[in-house]
Amino acid sequence: MAELVCFDPSCRERYAITDVLYNCRRCGGLLEAAYQFDHDAGRLKKLFRERRMSNDPLDASGVWRYRELFDFLDHYSCVTTLREGNTPLLEAPLAAAYGGLDRVAFKHQGFNPTGSFKDNGMTCGVAQARRLGMRRVACVSTGNTSASMAAYAAAAGLEALIFLPHGNISFGKLAQSLEYGARTFQVEANFDQILALVRTLAEKMGIYLLNSVNPFRIEGQKSIVFEMLDQRDWRAPDWIVLPGGNLGNTSAFGKALREAREIGLIGTIPRLAVIQAAGSAPFHDFIENGGEFRAVEKPETLATAIRIGDPVSWPKALYEIRASRGVVEKVSEQEIADAKAQVGRAGIGCEPASAATLAGIRKLTAKGVIARGADVVAVLTGNLLKDPDYIYRYHTGQLQAPGGAKIEPRFANRPVVVPNDADRIAELIG
Ligand code: F0G
Repeated sequence: MAELVCFDPSCRERYAITDVLYNCRRCGGLLEAAYQFDHDAGRLKKLFRERRMSNDPLDASGVWRYRELFDFLDHYSCVTTLREGNTPLLEAPLAAAYGGLDRVAFKHQGFNPTGSFKDNGMTCGVAQARRLGMRRVACVSTGNTSASMAAYAAAAGLEALIFLPHGNISFGKLAQSLEYGARTFQVEANFDQILALVRTLAEKMGIYLLNSVNPFRIEGQKSIVFEMLDQRDWRAPDWIVLPGGNLGNTSAFGKALREAREIGLIGTIPRLAVIQAAGSAPFHDFIENGGEFRAVEKPETLATAIRIGDPVSWPKALYEIRASRGVVEKVSEQEIADAKAQVGRAGIGCEPASAATLAGIRKLTAKGVIARGADVVAVLTGNLLKDPDYIYRYHTGQLQAPGGAKIEPRFANRPVVVPNDADRIAELIG
Protein backbone atom coordinates (compact mmCIF):
# COMPACT_ATOMS: atom_id res chain seq x y z
CA MET A 1 0.00 0.00 0.00
CA ALA A 2 1.45 3.33 -1.06
CA GLU A 3 0.84 6.48 0.97
CA LEU A 4 1.87 10.11 0.88
CA VAL A 5 3.94 10.99 3.93
CA CYS A 6 5.29 14.31 5.15
CA PHE A 7 9.04 14.35 4.62
CA ASP A 8 9.70 16.34 7.80
CA PRO A 9 10.95 13.79 10.38
CA SER A 10 9.27 15.66 13.23
CA CYS A 11 5.85 15.47 11.51
CA ARG A 12 5.52 12.39 9.24
CA GLU A 13 1.78 13.05 8.78
CA ARG A 14 0.24 10.47 6.40
CA TYR A 15 -2.20 11.02 3.55
CA ALA A 16 -3.98 8.86 0.99
CA ILE A 17 -1.98 8.35 -2.20
CA THR A 18 -4.89 9.89 -4.13
CA ASP A 19 -4.93 13.18 -2.16
CA VAL A 20 -4.22 16.14 -4.44
CA LEU A 21 -1.58 17.64 -2.25
CA TYR A 22 1.92 19.06 -2.69
CA ASN A 23 2.71 20.06 0.88
CA CYS A 24 1.75 18.72 4.29
CA ARG A 25 -1.53 20.22 5.57
CA ARG A 26 -0.21 20.14 9.12
CA CYS A 27 3.33 21.56 8.85
CA GLY A 28 3.73 22.70 5.24
CA GLY A 29 6.60 20.24 4.68
CA LEU A 30 7.35 18.43 1.42
CA LEU A 31 5.60 15.14 0.72
CA GLU A 32 6.95 11.82 -0.48
CA ALA A 33 5.44 8.56 -1.64
CA ALA A 34 6.12 5.78 0.86
CA TYR A 35 5.78 2.01 0.48
CA GLN A 36 6.12 -1.13 2.52
CA PHE A 37 8.58 -3.00 0.35
CA ASP A 38 8.50 -6.75 0.52
CA HIS A 39 10.62 -7.84 -2.42
CA ASP A 40 13.12 -10.50 -3.19
CA ALA A 41 16.07 -8.58 -4.69
CA GLY A 42 17.26 -11.49 -6.85
CA ARG A 43 13.81 -12.07 -8.29
CA LEU A 44 13.42 -8.36 -9.08
CA LYS A 45 16.77 -8.18 -10.87
CA LYS A 46 15.80 -11.15 -13.01
CA LEU A 47 12.39 -9.66 -13.77
CA PHE A 48 13.87 -6.29 -14.81
CA ARG A 49 16.35 -8.05 -17.08
CA GLU A 50 13.66 -10.22 -18.70
CA ARG A 51 11.52 -7.18 -19.40
CA ARG A 52 14.24 -5.78 -21.67
CA MET A 53 13.27 -8.51 -24.14
CA SER A 54 9.58 -7.65 -23.99
CA ASN A 55 7.64 -5.49 -26.45
CA ASP A 56 4.97 -4.61 -23.91
CA PRO A 57 5.02 -0.77 -23.81
CA LEU A 58 5.32 -0.78 -20.01
CA ASP A 59 8.30 -3.13 -20.10
CA ALA A 60 9.90 -1.26 -23.01
CA SER A 61 9.82 1.97 -20.98
CA GLY A 62 13.05 2.54 -19.06
CA VAL A 63 10.87 3.93 -16.29
CA TRP A 64 7.92 1.53 -15.98
CA ARG A 65 10.22 -1.48 -16.35
CA TYR A 66 11.10 -0.78 -12.70
CA ARG A 67 7.49 -0.24 -11.59
CA GLU A 68 7.70 -2.44 -8.49
CA LEU A 69 10.02 0.23 -7.06
CA PHE A 70 7.38 2.98 -7.28
CA ASP A 71 4.20 1.05 -6.89
CA PHE A 72 1.76 3.95 -6.42
CA LEU A 73 -0.82 3.11 -9.13
CA ASP A 74 -3.52 0.49 -8.65
CA HIS A 75 -3.76 -0.15 -12.40
CA TYR A 76 -1.60 0.81 -15.36
CA SER A 77 -4.30 1.84 -17.83
CA CYS A 78 -3.64 5.51 -17.00
CA VAL A 79 0.02 5.35 -18.04
CA THR A 80 1.17 7.38 -21.05
CA THR A 81 4.60 6.24 -22.17
CA LEU A 82 6.82 7.61 -24.95
CA ARG A 83 9.46 4.90 -24.36
CA GLU A 84 11.27 7.23 -21.95
CA GLY A 85 14.44 6.22 -20.13
CA ASN A 86 16.48 3.57 -21.92
CA THR A 87 19.32 6.07 -21.87
CA PRO A 88 22.91 4.91 -22.38
CA LEU A 89 25.78 4.74 -19.94
CA LEU A 90 28.70 5.97 -22.01
CA GLU A 91 32.38 5.56 -21.19
CA ALA A 92 34.26 8.76 -22.05
CA PRO A 93 38.05 8.49 -21.74
CA LEU A 94 38.76 12.01 -23.05
CA ALA A 95 36.31 13.60 -20.64
CA ALA A 96 37.70 11.46 -17.81
CA ALA A 97 41.19 12.82 -18.49
CA TYR A 98 39.83 16.39 -18.46
CA GLY A 99 38.05 15.69 -15.17
CA GLY A 100 41.17 14.24 -13.52
CA LEU A 101 39.80 10.70 -13.44
CA ASP A 102 41.05 7.39 -14.82
CA ARG A 103 37.54 6.61 -16.01
CA VAL A 104 34.11 8.17 -16.12
CA ALA A 105 30.76 6.98 -17.46
CA PHE A 106 28.06 9.42 -18.48
CA LYS A 107 24.46 8.44 -17.86
CA HIS A 108 23.04 10.53 -20.69
CA GLN A 109 19.48 11.57 -20.01
CA GLY A 110 19.54 13.72 -23.14
CA PHE A 111 18.61 10.54 -25.08
CA ASN A 112 15.06 10.80 -23.71
CA PRO A 113 12.05 11.48 -26.01
CA THR A 114 12.05 15.22 -25.29
CA GLY A 115 15.79 15.38 -24.69
CA SER A 116 16.05 15.61 -20.90
CA PHE A 117 15.72 13.61 -17.67
CA LYS A 118 12.36 15.25 -17.02
CA ASP A 119 10.66 12.56 -19.11
CA ASN A 120 11.49 9.95 -16.47
CA GLY A 121 9.46 11.88 -13.91
CA MET A 122 6.81 13.24 -16.23
CA THR A 123 5.45 9.86 -17.33
CA CYS A 124 4.71 9.16 -13.63
CA GLY A 125 3.31 12.64 -12.91
CA VAL A 126 1.00 12.44 -15.91
CA ALA A 127 -0.13 8.91 -14.97
CA GLN A 128 -1.13 10.23 -11.54
CA ALA A 129 -2.91 13.21 -13.17
CA ARG A 130 -4.95 10.81 -15.32
CA ARG A 131 -5.66 8.52 -12.39
CA LEU A 132 -7.01 11.49 -10.45
CA GLY A 133 -9.20 12.50 -13.39
CA MET A 134 -7.41 15.83 -13.90
CA ARG A 135 -8.03 17.60 -17.20
CA ARG A 136 -5.44 20.38 -16.93
CA VAL A 137 -1.81 20.26 -15.90
CA ALA A 138 0.59 23.14 -15.29
CA CYS A 139 4.22 23.88 -14.51
CA VAL A 140 6.72 26.69 -14.31
CA SER A 141 9.95 25.77 -15.97
CA THR A 142 13.39 26.78 -17.08
CA GLY A 143 12.44 24.90 -20.26
CA ASN A 144 12.92 21.17 -19.88
CA THR A 145 10.08 20.37 -17.50
CA SER A 146 7.77 22.35 -19.79
CA ALA A 147 8.96 20.58 -22.95
CA SER A 148 8.41 17.24 -21.26
CA MET A 149 5.05 18.13 -19.75
CA ALA A 150 3.85 19.50 -23.08
CA ALA A 151 4.70 16.23 -24.84
CA TYR A 152 3.20 13.89 -22.25
CA ALA A 153 0.09 16.02 -21.79
CA ALA A 154 -0.44 16.06 -25.56
CA ALA A 155 0.01 12.29 -25.78
CA ALA A 156 -2.36 11.79 -22.84
CA GLY A 157 -5.00 14.21 -24.14
CA LEU A 158 -4.63 16.67 -21.26
CA GLU A 159 -4.52 20.44 -21.54
CA ALA A 160 -1.03 21.79 -20.77
CA LEU A 161 -0.46 25.26 -19.27
CA ILE A 162 3.15 26.36 -19.23
CA PHE A 163 4.71 29.34 -17.48
CA LEU A 164 8.20 30.44 -18.45
CA PRO A 165 10.55 33.19 -17.28
CA HIS A 166 10.36 35.54 -20.29
CA GLY A 167 13.64 35.78 -22.18
CA ASN A 168 15.51 33.38 -19.93
CA ILE A 169 15.05 29.98 -21.47
CA SER A 170 16.68 28.55 -24.55
CA PHE A 171 14.83 28.89 -27.81
CA GLY A 172 14.89 25.14 -28.46
CA LYS A 173 12.99 24.43 -25.27
CA LEU A 174 10.41 27.15 -25.91
CA ALA A 175 9.97 25.76 -29.41
CA GLN A 176 9.23 22.30 -28.02
CA SER A 177 6.36 23.48 -25.85
CA LEU A 178 4.83 25.36 -28.81
CA GLU A 179 5.15 22.40 -31.16
CA TYR A 180 3.59 20.02 -28.62
CA GLY A 181 0.62 22.36 -28.45
CA ALA A 182 0.89 23.63 -24.87
CA ARG A 183 -0.63 26.98 -23.93
CA THR A 184 2.54 28.90 -23.20
CA PHE A 185 2.77 31.99 -21.00
CA GLN A 186 6.00 33.96 -20.82
CA VAL A 187 5.98 35.77 -17.48
CA GLU A 188 8.06 38.84 -16.67
CA ALA A 189 9.51 37.29 -13.52
CA ASN A 190 12.09 34.69 -12.52
CA PHE A 191 11.51 30.96 -11.92
CA ASP A 192 11.08 31.27 -8.15
CA GLN A 193 8.52 34.08 -8.45
CA ILE A 194 6.56 32.25 -11.13
CA LEU A 195 6.42 29.06 -9.06
CA ALA A 196 4.56 30.96 -6.33
CA LEU A 197 2.20 32.33 -8.98
CA VAL A 198 1.52 28.93 -10.54
CA ARG A 199 0.87 27.35 -7.16
CA THR A 200 -1.80 29.98 -6.50
CA LEU A 201 -3.36 29.40 -9.92
CA ALA A 202 -3.28 25.62 -9.51
CA GLU A 203 -5.12 25.81 -6.21
CA LYS A 204 -7.60 28.38 -7.42
CA MET A 205 -8.48 26.60 -10.65
CA GLY A 206 -8.04 22.93 -9.71
CA ILE A 207 -5.14 22.49 -12.12
CA TYR A 208 -2.72 19.65 -11.42
CA LEU A 209 0.80 20.93 -10.70
CA LEU A 210 3.62 18.99 -12.34
CA ASN A 211 6.69 20.72 -10.95
CA SER A 212 9.10 18.57 -8.96
CA VAL A 213 7.27 19.51 -5.76
CA ASN A 214 4.84 16.88 -7.09
CA PRO A 215 6.00 13.69 -5.35
CA PHE A 216 5.14 11.46 -8.34
CA ARG A 217 7.67 13.28 -10.53
CA ILE A 218 10.31 12.33 -7.98
CA GLU A 219 9.15 8.68 -8.05
CA GLY A 220 9.72 8.54 -11.80
CA GLN A 221 13.14 10.17 -11.62
CA LYS A 222 14.27 7.40 -9.25
CA SER A 223 14.31 5.17 -12.34
CA ILE A 224 17.40 7.03 -13.64
CA VAL A 225 19.34 5.47 -10.77
CA PHE A 226 17.67 2.06 -11.07
CA GLU A 227 18.38 1.84 -14.77
CA MET A 228 22.00 2.93 -14.27
CA LEU A 229 22.49 0.28 -11.56
CA ASP A 230 20.85 -2.35 -13.77
CA GLN A 231 23.22 -1.40 -16.61
CA ARG A 232 26.12 -1.98 -14.20
CA ASP A 233 24.71 -5.34 -13.07
CA TRP A 234 23.79 -3.69 -9.74
CA ARG A 235 27.37 -2.72 -8.87
CA ALA A 236 27.04 0.61 -7.08
CA PRO A 237 29.61 3.24 -8.18
CA ASP A 238 31.63 5.25 -5.63
CA TRP A 239 30.15 8.56 -6.76
CA ILE A 240 27.16 9.87 -8.69
CA VAL A 241 27.64 13.44 -9.90
CA LEU A 242 24.73 15.59 -11.05
CA PRO A 243 23.80 19.25 -11.50
CA GLY A 244 21.52 20.89 -8.93
CA GLY A 245 18.84 23.50 -9.66
CA ASN A 246 15.49 23.03 -7.96
CA LEU A 247 17.05 19.92 -6.34
CA GLY A 248 14.29 17.51 -7.36
CA ASN A 249 16.74 15.16 -9.02
CA THR A 250 19.05 15.14 -6.01
CA SER A 251 16.05 14.18 -3.87
CA ALA A 252 15.02 11.45 -6.31
CA PHE A 253 18.51 9.96 -6.55
CA GLY A 254 18.97 9.85 -2.78
CA LYS A 255 15.57 8.21 -2.27
CA ALA A 256 16.27 5.67 -5.03
CA LEU A 257 19.59 4.71 -3.49
CA ARG A 258 18.19 4.35 0.02
CA GLU A 259 15.31 2.22 -1.22
CA ALA A 260 17.60 0.10 -3.43
CA ARG A 261 19.71 -0.66 -0.39
CA GLU A 262 16.67 -1.35 1.80
CA ILE A 263 15.40 -3.89 -0.73
CA GLY A 264 18.86 -5.41 -1.09
CA LEU A 265 19.45 -4.47 -4.73
CA ILE A 266 22.76 -2.85 -3.70
CA GLY A 267 24.93 -3.21 -0.62
CA THR A 268 26.39 0.29 -0.33
CA ILE A 269 25.15 3.77 -1.14
CA PRO A 270 27.27 5.81 -3.57
CA ARG A 271 28.16 9.35 -2.54
CA LEU A 272 26.23 12.11 -4.30
CA ALA A 273 28.09 15.15 -5.63
CA VAL A 274 25.73 17.98 -6.55
CA ILE A 275 27.12 20.78 -8.72
CA GLN A 276 25.58 24.24 -8.92
CA ALA A 277 26.38 27.24 -11.11
CA ALA A 278 28.21 29.82 -8.97
CA GLY A 279 25.64 32.54 -9.72
CA SER A 280 22.74 30.31 -8.61
CA ALA A 281 24.25 28.31 -5.76
CA PRO A 282 22.09 28.74 -2.64
CA PHE A 283 22.36 25.05 -1.73
CA HIS A 284 26.14 25.03 -2.03
CA ASP A 285 26.45 28.15 0.10
CA PHE A 286 24.07 26.73 2.71
CA ILE A 287 26.03 23.48 3.01
CA GLU A 288 29.34 25.33 3.11
CA ASN A 289 28.38 28.10 5.54
CA GLY A 290 25.70 26.43 7.65
CA GLY A 291 23.05 28.56 9.39
CA GLU A 292 19.64 29.27 7.86
CA PHE A 293 18.86 28.37 4.26
CA ARG A 294 18.98 31.59 2.27
CA ALA A 295 17.64 31.97 -1.26
CA VAL A 296 19.64 33.83 -3.90
CA GLU A 297 17.42 36.73 -4.86
CA LYS A 298 18.75 37.33 -8.36
CA PRO A 299 20.08 34.01 -9.64
CA GLU A 300 22.27 34.26 -12.73
CA THR A 301 23.87 31.76 -15.07
CA LEU A 302 23.99 31.05 -18.79
CA ALA A 303 23.11 27.48 -17.83
CA THR A 304 19.51 28.69 -17.73
CA ALA A 305 18.16 25.23 -16.80
CA ILE A 306 19.64 25.69 -13.31
CA ARG A 307 19.01 29.40 -12.92
CA ILE A 308 17.08 28.94 -9.69
CA GLY A 309 17.62 30.91 -6.48
CA ASP A 310 15.08 29.32 -4.14
CA PRO A 311 15.08 25.56 -4.75
CA VAL A 312 11.90 23.97 -3.49
CA SER A 313 13.38 20.59 -2.61
CA TRP A 314 16.33 21.74 -0.52
CA PRO A 315 15.18 20.00 2.70
CA LYS A 316 15.01 16.66 0.85
CA ALA A 317 18.32 17.32 -0.88
CA LEU A 318 19.97 18.15 2.45
CA TYR A 319 18.75 14.84 3.87
CA GLU A 320 20.10 12.93 0.86
CA ILE A 321 23.47 14.67 0.93
CA ARG A 322 23.85 13.66 4.57
CA ALA A 323 22.55 10.12 4.01
CA SER A 324 25.02 9.55 1.16
CA ARG A 325 27.96 11.44 2.74
CA GLY A 326 27.64 13.64 -0.31
CA VAL A 327 29.20 16.97 -1.26
CA VAL A 328 28.02 20.12 -3.02
CA GLU A 329 30.32 22.12 -5.30
CA LYS A 330 29.87 25.24 -7.39
CA VAL A 331 31.47 26.10 -10.73
CA SER A 332 31.96 29.29 -12.72
CA GLU A 333 30.52 30.19 -16.12
CA GLN A 334 33.96 29.68 -17.70
CA GLU A 335 34.30 26.25 -16.08
CA ILE A 336 30.87 25.18 -17.34
CA ALA A 337 31.59 26.42 -20.87
CA ASP A 338 34.95 24.63 -21.09
CA ALA A 339 33.62 21.39 -19.61
CA LYS A 340 30.74 21.51 -22.06
CA ALA A 341 33.14 21.80 -25.00
CA GLN A 342 35.03 18.80 -23.61
CA VAL A 343 31.87 16.69 -23.39
CA GLY A 344 31.30 17.63 -27.03
CA ARG A 345 34.85 16.70 -28.04
CA ALA A 346 34.29 13.30 -26.48
CA GLY A 347 31.62 12.76 -29.13
CA ILE A 348 28.85 12.94 -26.56
CA GLY A 349 27.63 16.52 -26.13
CA CYS A 350 25.15 18.00 -23.65
CA GLU A 351 23.42 21.23 -22.72
CA PRO A 352 25.14 23.80 -20.45
CA ALA A 353 23.56 22.77 -17.12
CA SER A 354 24.62 19.17 -17.71
CA ALA A 355 28.24 20.21 -18.25
CA ALA A 356 28.35 21.49 -14.67
CA THR A 357 28.90 17.81 -13.75
CA LEU A 358 32.22 17.51 -15.56
CA ALA A 359 33.30 20.97 -14.39
CA GLY A 360 32.46 19.88 -10.84
CA ILE A 361 34.35 16.60 -11.20
CA ARG A 362 37.44 18.49 -12.36
CA LYS A 363 37.22 20.73 -9.31
CA LEU A 364 36.56 17.91 -6.86
CA THR A 365 39.43 15.76 -8.14
CA ALA A 366 41.77 18.78 -7.96
CA LYS A 367 40.75 19.24 -4.32
CA GLY A 368 41.28 15.54 -3.61
CA VAL A 369 37.62 15.01 -2.67
CA ILE A 370 37.13 12.51 -5.51
CA ALA A 371 40.11 10.17 -6.01
CA ARG A 372 41.55 9.75 -9.52
CA GLY A 373 40.78 6.02 -9.46
CA ALA A 374 37.22 6.39 -8.15
CA ASP A 375 34.33 4.71 -9.94
CA VAL A 376 32.27 7.73 -11.06
CA VAL A 377 28.97 8.01 -12.90
CA ALA A 378 28.19 11.53 -14.11
CA VAL A 379 24.66 12.37 -15.14
CA LEU A 380 24.18 14.48 -18.27
CA THR A 381 20.70 15.87 -17.84
CA GLY A 382 19.94 17.35 -21.26
CA ASN A 383 20.66 17.00 -24.97
CA LEU A 384 23.25 19.09 -26.84
CA LEU A 385 20.59 20.47 -29.21
CA LYS A 386 18.61 22.05 -26.37
CA ASP A 387 20.71 25.21 -26.55
CA PRO A 388 22.54 25.63 -29.89
CA ASP A 389 22.76 29.40 -29.48
CA TYR A 390 25.11 28.98 -26.51
CA ILE A 391 27.29 26.63 -28.55
CA TYR A 392 27.57 28.94 -31.54
CA ARG A 393 28.47 31.87 -29.32
CA TYR A 394 31.12 29.88 -27.44
CA HIS A 395 32.85 28.58 -30.55
CA THR A 396 32.81 31.99 -32.22
CA GLY A 397 34.08 33.86 -29.16
CA GLN A 398 30.83 35.73 -28.54
CA LEU A 399 29.70 34.11 -25.30
CA GLN A 400 29.39 36.55 -22.41
CA ALA A 401 28.76 35.70 -18.77
CA PRO A 402 25.88 37.50 -16.99
CA GLY A 403 27.24 40.95 -16.19
CA GLY A 404 29.14 41.09 -19.48
CA ALA A 405 32.46 39.34 -18.76
CA LYS A 406 33.72 37.55 -21.85
CA ILE A 407 33.99 33.79 -21.72
CA GLU A 408 37.28 32.66 -23.23
CA PRO A 409 36.62 30.12 -25.98
CA ARG A 410 39.49 27.89 -24.82
CA PHE A 411 38.35 24.94 -26.88
CA ALA A 412 36.82 26.90 -29.74
CA ASN A 413 36.11 25.24 -33.05
CA ARG A 414 35.37 28.15 -35.34
CA PRO A 415 33.45 27.68 -38.57
CA VAL A 416 35.38 28.96 -41.57
CA VAL A 417 33.78 30.94 -44.40
CA VAL A 418 35.28 29.97 -47.76
CA PRO A 419 34.79 30.94 -51.40
CA ASN A 420 33.28 28.39 -53.79
CA ASP A 421 36.74 27.42 -55.01
CA ALA A 422 38.15 23.86 -54.73
CA ASP A 423 41.80 24.97 -54.99
CA ARG A 424 41.50 27.53 -52.22
CA ILE A 425 39.64 25.07 -49.99
CA ALA A 426 42.19 22.30 -50.68
CA GLU A 427 44.93 24.75 -49.70
CA LEU A 428 43.10 25.59 -46.46
CA ILE A 429 42.56 21.92 -45.57
CA GLY A 430 46.27 21.37 -46.16
N1 F0G B 1 19.80 19.95 -15.75
C1 F0G B 1 18.84 20.31 -16.60
C2 F0G B 1 19.10 20.16 -18.06
C3 F0G B 1 17.61 20.81 -16.10
O1 F0G B 1 16.66 21.16 -16.96
C4 F0G B 1 17.43 20.96 -14.71
C5 F0G B 1 16.20 21.50 -14.16
C6 F0G B 1 18.48 20.57 -13.87
C7 F0G B 1 19.64 20.06 -14.43
C8 F0G B 1 18.38 20.66 -12.41
O2 F0G B 1 17.57 19.66 -11.88
O3 F0G B 1 15.94 21.07 -10.65
O4 F0G B 1 16.08 18.61 -10.27
O5 F0G B 1 17.90 20.12 -9.48
N2 F0G B 1 15.29 22.03 -14.86
C9 F0G B 1 13.98 22.43 -14.32
C10 F0G B 1 13.04 22.79 -15.46
C11 F0G B 1 14.00 23.36 -13.21
O6 F0G B 1 12.12 23.59 -15.27
O7 F0G B 1 13.20 22.25 -16.54
P1 F0G B 1 16.82 19.88 -10.48
